[in-house]
Amino acid sequence: GLGVAKLLGTTGMVALDPGFTNTASTTSEITYIDGEVGILRYRGYPIAELARSSTFTEVAYLLINGELPDAETFERFKRRIARHRLLHEDFRSFFTSFPSSGHPMAILQAGIAGLATYYEDTLNPHDPYERELATVLLLSKVPTMVSYIARRAIGLPLMYPDPRRGYVEDFLHMTFGMPYQSFDIDPSVIRALDMLLILHADHEQNCSTSTVRLVGSSDANMYASVAAGVGALSGPLHGGANEAVLRMLDRIQNDGMTTDEFVRKVKNKEDGVRLMGFGHRVYKSYDPRAALVKATAHDVLARLGSADGDRKLEIAMELEEVALNDEYFVSRNLYPNVDFYTGLIYQAMGFPTTMFTPLFALGRLPGWIAQYREMISDPAKRIGRPRQVYTGQIERHYVAMHRRE
Ligand code: ACO
Repeated sequence: GLGVAKLLGTTGMVALDPGFTNTASTTSEITYIDGEVGILRYRGYPIAELARSSTFTEVAYLLINGELPDAETFERFKRRIARHRLLHEDFRSFFTSFPSSGHPMAILQAGIAGLATYYEDTLNPHDPYERELATVLLLSKVPTMVSYIARRAIGLPLMYPDPRRGYVEDFLHMTFGMPYQSFDIDPSVIRALDMLLILHADHEQNCSTSTVRLVGSSDANMYASVAAGVGALSGPLHGGANEAVLRMLDRIQNDGMTTDEFVRKVKNKEDGVRLMGFGHRVYKSYDPRAALVKATAHDVLARLGSADGDRKLEIAMELEEVALNDEYFVSRNLYPNVDFYTGLIYQAMGFPTTMFTPLFALGRLPGWIAQYREMISDPAKRIGRPRQVYTGQIERHYVAMHRRE
């Protein structure tokens, strides 16, 4: 809750609001959420309409520029993003300098920050031309980077981007294609991933986005700010939840535990275990994204599913059923969030578990960029600098080592 405390030794009052439950950090025109009823809109457009009718690239344009593009503008935008997908050849050695077992989020964070060293003429956030170029380079190169990390982890040759392919199709081709072999991917899989990326594209002032804004408020360049966002997203209470859900389902399946038993453990807070993929700071009703993901999970698993995937989907649905009828979850307004069902889809598509959170990062990228640009262009912008309420020792004096008790 919101507490007000007087700072010791200074004049004036500061509000103490742990976790920023009630404190707005900014005004914004990008994303609207009403957590009580479960509404999410990007630039005024309901998420379900965008998920049904738009594409991830168009949504990226919308978030960043504020309006849907006309046909010619959209073609130009897509062409620019397609042209810049190649990574500098030196980046190959960058990837091999990490242990191949290293977590992809750590490599991704370093890689994005490292882009600043290759594109030094795109670092000034107050120059509209440089800002535009940094935007395009990030949108173009991050998918290539994510697929390189995935390939390197299992020792497959890296695949160059192909500008003739669409954004999501090319990402899948770089990740799952083979040199000199034709690439047959079910168009419904491309469409499903495209939709999942749309659902992740922005979510106003969440932990990673607030991080991007705070870092950028010092006029740090877009790569440094987005890389910091990747760090924030890696935590299991944020983007890392999609990976944690799969590990939880694995555990239930392998330990032969019933969903009732697992839910009991959660309610008793045994070993701090939580029902991963459940609960949200803002949504106090069903996350509108989770409903769309759940429907997609059924479709994708019906097409690509394995016996293992099907069993995990059953466990997930049982968990949801048990939780939604349990006083503990009902009284705390805990519903499935966007990440409860995504992992099952990613797994059916062939992504290893450690790639789930990088996929979230790929989706959130346009949101981070749009929010960074809104922050940097705001005439009222000041460096972010929260206050604190000091609770440590009052003044005391240094005691020589031999005199200490
Ligand atoms: N399982 C069990 N209990 C939970 C869960 C959960 N998933 N989430 C919240 N609770 C309980 C808490 O224990 C607390 O109960 P208490 O009052 O008895 O102590 C109460 O609900 C309130 O929880 P807070 O932690 O105060 O809620 P907060 O808004 O700070 O946290 C968060 C939100 C981090 C999402 C939380 O619900 C959580 O940890 N969920 C699991 C991780 C997860 O799925 N994260 C993804 C979030 S969505 C995203 O990043 C896309």
